[in-house]
Amino acid sequence: MEDGPLPENCAVKVFKTTLTEFKTRERYIREDYRFKDRLSKNNSQKLIRMWAEKEYHNLRRLHRAGIPSPKPVLIKKHILVMSFIGEQHKAAPKLKEARLSLAELCVAYEQVVEAMVKMFHGCHLVHADLSEYNILWHEEKCWIIDLGQAVEPTHPHALHFLHRDCTNIIRFFKSKRVPELPSPLKLFELVSGISLPGPEESAERMCQKCEEKLEDDRKYHV
Ligand SMILES: Nc1ncnc2c1ncn2[C@@H]1O[C@H](COP(=O)(O)OP(=O)(O)OP(=O)(O)O)[C@@H](O)[C@H]1O
Ligand SMILES: [Mg+2]
Repeated sequence: MEDGPLPENCAVKVFKTTLTEFKTRERYIREDYRFKDRLSKNNSQKLIRMWAEKEYHNLRRLHRAGIPSPKPVLIKKHILVMSFIGEQHKAAPKLKEARLSLAELCVAYEQVVEAMVKMFHGCHLVHADLSEYNILWHEEKCWIIDLGQAVEPTHPHALHFLHRDCTNIIRFFKSKRVPELPSPLKLFELVSGISLPGPEESAERMCQKCEEKLEDDRKYHV
């Protein structure tokens, strides 16, 4: 259990899954070296528990890095308890649903970028499902949620996931007419510090190349 006083209100996330979801999720956890040795059998119950545990640990990293996110409280089997983001028992709206002025949207964009940079460099994590659906707007701040699938930058697909996160974020803020947004590739570079030469279309290919290089580096370090 996390140290410190219990939050006044808690959110409880109960993990369950269908067979198709299980197969998709497996990709995120099997290749995360932190959990690799523990997934010897294709045991869905075990995987769900590990998924919950992964979210708990990832949330801990975010919370300690000072990124607005739910404080993890307790993990028990496939049930995760965390602090509740919202007021008077009403969950804060997702960025997708929140009604923000253009000035607030500009602030929100800056906050999301700051959170992505801190996640990558301070927490060694790529969210891997970052979008307007997994960001809550509360007390004039963006709160990052849903960390179950987040992976470390050395995960074989981490850079691909990061590029996808950047694409989602730019697409959302562009649809809200936030001015002077960079391209997804420029945001990727800003967040990761990795520059990928060439046009935007080749970013996917380049991410794959970086992943191959990281994979090679890892092989030599085993
Ligand atoms: N700590 C929290 N405080 C308040 N509301 C939360 C919290 N965590 C999650 N929620 C609410 O629950 C919803 C689902 O949570 P989350 O995104 O973590 O799970 P999910 O696996 O994506 O679930 P779903 O597939 O139903 O969206 C969020 O969109 C948000 O509205
Ligand atoms: Mg979600």
